[in-house]
Amino acid sequence: MTDAAATAVEPEGEQRQRITPAQTVEQEIVVLDYGGQYSQLIARRVRDCGVFSELLPHHVSIDEVAARKPRGIILSGGPASVYAPGAPALDERLLELGVPVMGICYGMQLLVHTLGGRVEEAEVGEFGRSELHVSEPGVLLAGLPREQTCWMSHRDTVFEPPPGFTALASSTGSPVAAVQDQARDIYGIQFHPEVVHTPYGQEILTRFLTDVCGCEPNWSAASIVEDQIRRIREQVGEGKVICGLSGGVDSSVAALLVHRAIGDQLTCVFVDHGLMRKDEGEQVIKTFRDTFKVALVAVDAETRFLEKLQGVTEPEAKRKAIGAEFIRVFEEEAARLAGDGEGARFLVQGTLYSDVIESGGGTGAATIKSHHNVGGLPDDLQFELVEPLRALFKDEVRAVGAELGLPERLVWRQPFPGPGLAIRVVGGEATRERLDVLREADHILQEEIRKAGLYRELWQSFCVLPDVRTVGVQGDERTYGYVVVVRAVTSDDAMTADWARLPYDLLETIASRMINELREVNRVVLDITSKPPGTIEWE
Ligand code: XMP
Repeated sequence: MTDAAATAVEPEGEQRQRITPAQTVEQEIVVLDYGGQYSQLIARRVRDCGVFSELLPHHVSIDEVAARKPRGIILSGGPASVYAPGAPALDERLLELGVPVMGICYGMQLLVHTLGGRVEEAEVGEFGRSELHVSEPGVLLAGLPREQTCWMSHRDTVFEPPPGFTALASSTGSPVAAVQDQARDIYGIQFHPEVVHTPYGQEILTRFLTDVCGCEPNWSAASIVEDQIRRIREQVGEGKVICGLSGGVDSSVAALLVHRAIGDQLTCVFVDHGLMRKDEGEQVIKTFRDTFKVALVAVDAETRFLEKLQGVTEPEAKRKAIGAEFIRVFEEEAARLAGDGEGARFLVQGTLYSDVIESGGGTGAATIKSHHNVGGLPDDLQFELVEPLRALFKDEVRAVGAELGLPERLVWRQPFPGPGLAIRVVGGEATRERLDVLREADHILQEEIRKAGLYRELWQSFCVLPDVRTVGVQGDERTYGYVVVVRAVTSDDAMTADWARLPYDLLETIASRMINELREVNRVVLDITSKPPGTIEWE
């Protein structure tokens, strides 16, 4: 299983053992999502301030919000106009929970509109950097510069605050850019404190969290570890637990957390399908078995997988063949481990909070992007799930991994697809010979990227081996060899990506090493396609 795959499988109905984020902490900020592009980011920034935060759809019931006993509620931005028919509205009972509320962008306009202020379309929109002029600092802007830069993204604007509110600031395009009604603990800001282009944004959020909501910064990797260990012990008791380990960040951190909690009750299964990058399998085995003393079954299934890939050239057929074989191997191992006795009752999954949000904000049914299921496990396996990362964003998972002592190489590993190198031998069959050429080329690329200190900056960097030969000349001899494609992208979430502008000197070193060290390769090209219109992988 890979990173993505390990997080992808969501059993439905009764089988699902939810460790909902809401159960895990004493103090929480609820962010209600009105569809803004930065909504997730708000929750992440709140957590960066050391306060647990959860993103819920704006239409959740008041009871659901109240059940979480939040210390504060943030209303996110969103694309609608508050006065348009059918626009998401504010349930005024939210304001009667006795909990401070802060609206951001659409959230502020919603508060203003609902409470009797004036929101209208401005003559010109305000998108991007803007200058904020603070007239009355109030709680949120106290002690901050009177003139500061902020990031705006709106066409409607607030012209008049509601009765009882004070206008705190204005900007070029917003007569009223921040408001407060301290007596009722209701606040609004038109700009986005969650984006880095608002330099004082994090401070403003911190003021809301600490000065208004009275939160203590206590959400940290260490507290997550402690909390999850307790929960895992409670959930599994004396039961046996099994985990499909891929070496990706998510499954590695999930496995380590569970191991820390219940030791030898956990067995990890690492299926080496022969489609990994160079030395990766050994690294995983060494780290988990030798360093962490985790009971680990490593299955060398390369031959089995390559047999299944014989004659398969179509990308989806490759994915299917690999996925099906993966499940077969995993089930065989689970049965073998059970022997004549009782097998594992629990299965560890590295489901992340972003998967939970994507599948309905933690409240609805799961729908997972289909291709990410490849290499994962089906949802009809008879296991109860243990999902210790369910409340965490990726960067928090990395922090937890570091806290648990996971080597830096694994903590910062770039995403790697479940079907591995097989979907990077494109336009043809993934034979052992082609996979070996690709693996070596990939190894050179990784070495050079790491040496240049760029590994962490890139979302992914890898090679593709098309089933194409080109003519070259080396040492007075005509050659007819493989073309290696170098693909390196930057991205935040793989939904969109930009091709990375690698330095020319680095590209030259990479190309000449590949051609000199790999006899089969005589040409190296660079993929300069963004996503969209391209995808990150070639197949
Ligand atoms: P694309 O190519 O769709 O990829 O832009 C987006 C992200 O998903 C990864 N990917 C996969 N992961 N199984 C996986 O586990 C797959 O079949 C698969 N295909 C693409 C890709 O590496 C990128 O991070």
